[in-house]
Amino acid sequence: MSYDERTFVMVKPDGVQRSLIGEIISRFEHRGLKLVGAKALQLDEELAKTHYSEHEGKPFFEGLIDFITSGPVFAMVWEGKDATRQVRRMVGATDPAEAAPGTIRGDHGLDLGRNVIHASDHEDEGANEREIAVFFDEEELLDYEQATDEWRY
Ligand code: PPS
Repeated sequence: MSYDERTFVMVKPDGVQRSLIGEIISRFEHRGLKLVGAKALQLDEELAKTHYSEHEGKPFFEGLIDFITSGPVFAMVWEGKDATRQVRRMVGATDPAEAAPGTIRGDHGLDLGRNVIHASDHEDEGANEREIAVFFDEEELLDYEQATDEWRY
């Protein structure tokens, strides 16, 4: 387990429209993760299909692409010990109806499509770095120390 593992997180169009960016950033900050990259952007079809390429051909694929390109998203990279798994635990189950209260989707998600946030799958080895590379150039990501590092997760 790496202490400086990075993971990819994206507030989806529903989360941006519902002004949940700050709430979501706040949760990860309070958990002790370090923000090393962030940008607001509007996905075009090509970028959306690259990001979700593993789901191509599934029944929900076209709807997922339509939704994720329907408005701005907020992409982030968070760093910390076991970051990918810890972030997924905080995000909660894909279907908000199944997501535990206290998780981001359990508290804010509406349905399977409008589930507020995407985070790299910790069970898919390397998904975190693959997804980071789709959205960020390496020089856009920060390498810095915080005064609070000794208290960091
Ligand atoms: S799978 O087949 O089990 O791998 O798929 P799943 O993990 O359930 O979902 C993969 C992503 O697709 C989104 N999804 C949908 N979006 C829109 N409409 C429908 N019906 C739908 N069903 C699934 C789901 O939220 C997952 O998105 P991410 O961003 O990866 O969490």
